[in-house]
Amino acid sequence: MSRSSVERKLSSENPPKQEWAAYYRWSAGRPPRELLLRVLDHINWEGGPKKEPLAIDLCFGAGNDTLELLRRGWRVLAIDGQKDAARILARRVPPRLRPSLTTLVAPMEGLELPPADLVYASFALPFCAPAAFLELWESIRGSLRPGGHFAGQLFGDRDEWQGRQPLSFHTRRQALGLARGLRVEMLRETVEEGRVHSGPKHWHYFELILEKPRGVRRPRRNERR
Ligand SMILES: C[S@@+](CC[C@H](N)C(=O)[O-])C[C@H]1O[C@@H](n2cnc3c(N)ncnc32)[C@H](O)[C@@H]1O
Repeated sequence: MSRSSVERKLSSENPPKQEWAAYYRWSAGRPPRELLLRVLDHINWEGGPKKEPLAIDLCFGAGNDTLELLRRGWRVLAIDGQKDAARILARRVPPRLRPSLTTLVAPMEGLELPPADLVYASFALPFCAPAAFLELWESIRGSLRPGGHFAGQLFGDRDEWQGRQPLSFHTRRQALGLARGLRVEMLRETVEEGRVHSGPKHWHYFELILEKPRGVRRPRRNERR
């Protein structure tokens, strides 16, 4: 992770700081998200994570999912652009789990991520400035270890917030394009009337679980036919 990215201020704040604080109050204490449980189940089904796996929780918000990862024995690098989020998380982590947590307050735009077994970005990537999106996506792909997973959402092009700047939106085709070279374990599209902390919202989003292939093992000479 470059120091400049740690020190860089958020290029823009949308929604503003107070809105995020209201979001944290609204969402803190919620159970872990279904997407997190799904990717963890999938990892277990594949034989479980290796010893002391590292997860990056990108845009961790009130920290509900960071806490779940810590409880399940993951080391977590939790990143969010808001100091308020880091303060809330610090208060919520039980002392015995603190050694497994590293917290970073930084904008996601321009991040260089370390090697990780899971990059988890729950309702996070849509808040990346469009001009910085592809660079961030390359950083996420690059950080995944072979056999590592990505789980997160993208806002679809029919989401109510479409057009708001500086948010990022994707079509299904673009979402599939981002997944190229990774194994698609899940691509689920949701269109629904729902809520955000500030009121009702028409949602259109894609949920993705992707896996970086472990690489094709070349057969040994005596295995060849
Ligand atoms: C909708 S919340 C999601 C929080 C949590 N992952 C969840 O699923 O509830 C988005 C989070 O992204 C953070 N965020 C928004 N824009 C950001 C940016 N450009 N860089 C870093 N964090 C940002 C906000 O501070 C907020 O905590």
